[in-house]
Amino acid sequence: MPTPKEFIEKNRRKFIDKWFEALRIPSVSAETDHKPDMRRMAEWLADLLDGDLGFAAHVIETQTNPLVFGQSPEVPGAPTVLIYGHYDVQPVDPLDQWRTPPFEPTLDDGKVFCRGADDDKGQSLTHLFAVKTLLETEGKLPLNVKFLFEGEEEIGSAALSAFLESEENRNLLAADAILLSDTDKPAADRPGITYGLRGVVGYELTLTGPNRDLHSGLYGGSVQNPVTALCAMLAAVIGPDGKIRIPGFYDDVVPLSAREREELAKRPFDEAESLAAVGLDASFGEPEYTVTERRGARPSFDINGITGGYQGKGGKTIIPATASAKFTFRLVPNQRPEPLTRALESFFRDRLPAGVKMDLAFQHGAGGMVIPLESPFLQAAARGLSSVYGEAPVFIRDGGSIPIITKMKDALGADLILAGAGLEEDGIHSPNEYFTLRDFFLGIESSAAILTELARVKTGG
Ligand code: BES
Ligand code: MN
Ligand code: MN
Repeated sequence: MPTPKEFIEKNRRKFIDKWFEALRIPSVSAETDHKPDMRRMAEWLADLLDGDLGFAAHVIETQTNPLVFGQSPEVPGAPTVLIYGHYDVQPVDPLDQWRTPPFEPTLDDGKVFCRGADDDKGQSLTHLFAVKTLLETEGKLPLNVKFLFEGEEEIGSAALSAFLESEENRNLLAADAILLSDTDKPAADRPGITYGLRGVVGYELTLTGPNRDLHSGLYGGSVQNPVTALCAMLAAVIGPDGKIRIPGFYDDVVPLSAREREELAKRPFDEAESLAAVGLDASFGEPEYTVTERRGARPSFDINGITGGYQGKGGKTIIPATASAKFTFRLVPNQRPEPLTRALESFFRDRLPAGVKMDLAFQHGAGGMVIPLESPFLQAAARGLSSVYGEAPVFIRDGGSIPIITKMKDALGADLILAGAGLEEDGIHSPNEYFTLRDFFLGIESSAAILTELARVKTGG
């Protein structure tokens, strides 16, 4: 029998081919014209689970995008791990900034460029191929494995949230630990376990002024301009010091302890290099916190898009009828979306000039999380990672959000293990997203090692 590493080495081509097949399906959840692609993607995964792994797998219909569930043959007395991933991807916009077609995986210099290469098709598949590796090298799995894939992580996980409400469904998903890799590792040669994620809450603010666009010469200086008003209202939200100025915003933030700041400082990070990679020469934010802390453990505010008035060629002298912006806050424990929504509503009302109406639409929201490090499953996963990298994982807090996993943890009472396989520089959500072959194969090897260690944890059941 080959070792897992040897097996992975021998099957590189097969794993790459399968991964590329998945990448070619444009499963963009935010765009409704991709509905058929969501189904194709779900069926593709179910086929891989029952065809290649011999799992009992099926597509689960929901009100929206299907879920995919698959289960290994039972291994009595062994722990059960539920592996989570999402098959939906972000839109490719802005298309003209892609150097290669966004749904044609292109290998260049050890990097596979494609939307979803990393987030989350590449990372999800590492677990599937790890299970394949264990099956082929050990003859059988050392523990019970369940897979759950959803197609709505990028748009708020509505179907999976609803699914978790039924006891029967929770029994189907029951597990000792939930394993996923939908986060980042700290460096190419350094594994990480993410013990904290920020929450996120999203809104759209629309201001309406005159009942049509007006000539800015005839009306200018005499009526309120909605775009100007919107800019002023949004600019009031955050100061140049990175402080959010909504009253009460920081009330529920759990302060970072000296001990934790010491831990977070262990994450390898080169500020100049990280900035240079995205074409910047200066950081922004709260000066009293390090950049690692600002990104993973402090709240933030960002305008994601802003619209209003004439944006075509040349100029057009108008006062626009409407203006709107989409924006998000990242939250940390114990901040909650609900009080923020109330505070925000009155914050904007107080600043709303005469002559415009406002509508603040809440889009989605979830609080931040931190998970205790004492879990025997988490410690077992750390041993698995150490065995692959020859170095212990760094415990990190990531700035991104996966709101559904807190719900899953609570609904199933299982321990969470977040072991990212990708890197911050992979450009997830950006044009030219990529995943390196090195990280893809290390991910497979790591997942196999983690599963092997998880199998050894005594569950007392
Ligand atoms: N995989 C990311 C989240 C992530 C990335 C966590 C890197 C930690 C490190 C996930 O797919 C994502 O993008 N989530 C969205 C959630 C939102 C749409 C509700 C996010 O964070 O913006
Ligand atoms: Mn993701
Ligand atoms: Mn994402």
